[in-house]
Amino acid sequence: MKKRAIKVENLVKNFGKNESLVEVINGASFEVNKGELVALVAPSGAGKTTLLMMIGCVEEPTSGTIYLGDEKVYEDKWLTKETRKIRREKLGFIFQAHYLIPFLNIIENVTLVPQANGVSTKESEKIAMELLEYFDIQDKVHAMPSSLSGGQNQRVAIARALANKPEIILADEPTAALDIKRSVDVVKMLKKIAIDQDVAVIMVTHDEAMLPLCDRILKIEDKKVISTVLKENEEII
Ligand SMILES: Nc1ncnc2c1ncn2[C@@H]1O[C@H](COP(=O)(O)OP(=O)(O)OP(=O)(O)O)[C@@H](O)[C@H]1O
Ligand SMILES: [Mg+2]
Repeated sequence: MKKRAIKVENLVKNFGKNESLVEVINGASFEVNKGELVALVAPSGAGKTTLLMMIGCVEEPTSGTIYLGDEKVYEDKWLTKETRKIRREKLGFIFQAHYLIPFLNIIENVTLVPQANGVSTKESEKIAMELLEYFDIQDKVHAMPSSLSGGQNQRVAIARALANKPEIILADEPTAALDIKRSVDVVKMLKKIAIDQDVAVIMVTHDEAMLPLCDRILKIEDKKVISTVLKENEEII
C-alpha cells in the first residue's frame, strides 16, 4: 500500500500587503507518496521555491494545511514551536549549488546533521561512509569540497541530505549546475533513493530531459498545483 509522505490542502501564500500584495500560491492541494520521485515545474517566479520552503517548514504559509507523514505540521499556523526539529528529523534539502561547508572535509560535511541530531560520532561516520560508498566517492572522504568536481560535490550534497534518514527530500534545481550526463545520473540516483529508502522526493527542474525519469509531474498553474503524468512526446515546460 502506498504511504503518504506529504499532503497539502488549500495552501495559500501571499507576500506583502495592500498595494504590494503578491499572491504566489492560492489554494494548492496535492499529495506525494513515499517511494515517489516527483518533478515540480513552472515558469520562473511561479512559486516553486516558495512551495518547497513551505513544505520544508522554512517559509510560513498564509493559510492552509500541511501534513508531513502522519503529522499535521501546519494549519493556519505552525502546530509546533520546533519547526527546526521537524526539518532536522524528517527532511533533507538539496539545492542548486551544493552548499557544502568549504572548511570541512567530505565526511565532516555528511556527519554534521546526524551529529546535531545526537547521533554518536562513530555511528554517524558509519552512516556517512555507507552513503559515500553508495555514491562512489568513498575515496574522497578526507578531501575538501574545493578539490571535487561539481558532480561529485552534488553527490556529496545528496549523501548529506540522506544522512539523517529523512522521510522527504526537497531538491531545488539539483541538476542546474550539471551537464546532461551528470544530471541524468543525479536524477536516476534520486529515483533509486526514493525506492530503496522509501523516501518521497520533490525535485524542482527546468530541464525537460529530466521529466521522463520522474514518476509524476506537479505543475504550478493559476497559482494552484496540478498533477500530471508525462505522456510520450508531450512538452510540459
Ligand atoms: N521573501 C519574499 N518577499 C516578497 N516576495 C517574494 C519573496 N520570496 C519570493 N517572492 C516572490 O514570490 C514569487 C515566487 O518566487 P519563487 O522564488 O518561489 O519562484 P520560483 O518558481 O522558484 O522561480 P525560479 O524558477 O526563478 O527559481 C516571485 O514573484 C517572487 O518575487
Ligand atoms: Mg526557485
